[in-house]
Amino acid sequence: MSRAIVFDTYGGPEVLRTVQVAELTPGPGQVRVRVKAAGVNPIDAKIRGGRLDGRVPVAFPQTLGNEFAGVVDRVGAGPAAYPVGAEVFGFTSMSAYADHVVVGVDQVTAKPAALPWETAAALSAVGQTAYNALRILAVNQGETLLVHAAAGGVGTVAVQLARLLGATVIGTASERNHEYLRSLGATPVVYGPGLTERVRNLAPGGVQAALDCIGADAVRVSLDLVENPGRIGTTADESAADTYGVHRIRYERSAQTLAELARLYCAGKLVLPVAKTFPLEAAADAHHEIETGHVRGKIVLVASG
Ligand SMILES: NC(=O)c1ccc[n+]([C@@H]2O[C@H](COP(=O)([O-])OP(=O)(O)OC[C@H]3O[C@@H](n4cnc5c(N)ncnc54)[C@H](OP(=O)(O)O)[C@@H]3O)[C@@H](O)[C@H]2O)c1
Repeated sequence: MSRAIVFDTYGGPEVLRTVQVAELTPGPGQVRVRVKAAGVNPIDAKIRGGRLDGRVPVAFPQTLGNEFAGVVDRVGAGPAAYPVGAEVFGFTSMSAYADHVVVGVDQVTAKPAALPWETAAALSAVGQTAYNALRILAVNQGETLLVHAAAGGVGTVAVQLARLLGATVIGTASERNHEYLRSLGATPVVYGPGLTERVRNLAPGGVQAALDCIGADAVRVSLDLVENPGRIGTTADESAADTYGVHRIRYERSAQTLAELARLYCAGKLVLPVAKTFPLEAAADAHHEIETGHVRGKIVLVASG
């Protein structure tokens, strides 16, 4: 037997509970991973709270968690891409809040020794989302990118990847995160009324692209600043994407992108702060934390014992 965190009904963080589940067996082309750490994302809380009912299929008792890092402890039939004992990290769908996950070998990549477990577990969702967003928005050297919610998980990675591409980045955050944004290479600006004017003052050459990682009025502000709506994307506001015809940044994952993000981390070109860790069985506390909406970087569940 091993443990998983499940919920049986939509509700607050208190609906999350720890259960014993039957041992998972990997099929052909799969590995079983003993999870050492699992990333927590805002979407986990949205699913748990029922905000995505009808859009994200849920089967009670439902587990959560889309990303993890751990050690391969069983290998399915067929050529073994990863042997038992391999240290890996990867992505899954609503199953990583557990002692074990079973995934295809194309959903993991080798964890470099220099990449800490917690960071590895936190890299997939925000890293791959930011990576895809910059590709979709075609951010280029010499351009200015506006990132809304730049101190969050997606924003943190997007700022750094855009800087590596040679772009200037303006990032929105509350005052307490301004020094942090400067450390990532962005020019900080407070969000709220008057944002459009403040950004205009910071960008005399204009803003060529914008990435919304928060919703609210971020897309509307972006439309005021960016000439081409095709260079605006949102990870957080599907209805604004539909209304205004800007890019909705969709779920798209690959082990290759993950390996590239790890390479950047190990080369000292990417950081992803883990704001807090919680033991697996305290997933409800982790959800309280993510629902504050003010996490800097990431929240991670770690295996106990
Ligand atoms: N489509 C996908 O594949 C995908 C993948 C990952 C995430 N997402 C979505 O993208 C969004 C961002 O995810 P995340 O993990 O980056 O979130 P997060 O880490 O929880 O974001 C927290 C950050 O939001 C900032 N913030 C709060 N209110 C703000 C406001 N009004 N304006 C600007 N910043 C504000 C906070 O900064 P302050 O404390 O300074 O306010 C905090 O640093 C979520 O909606 C998530 O569900 C989508």
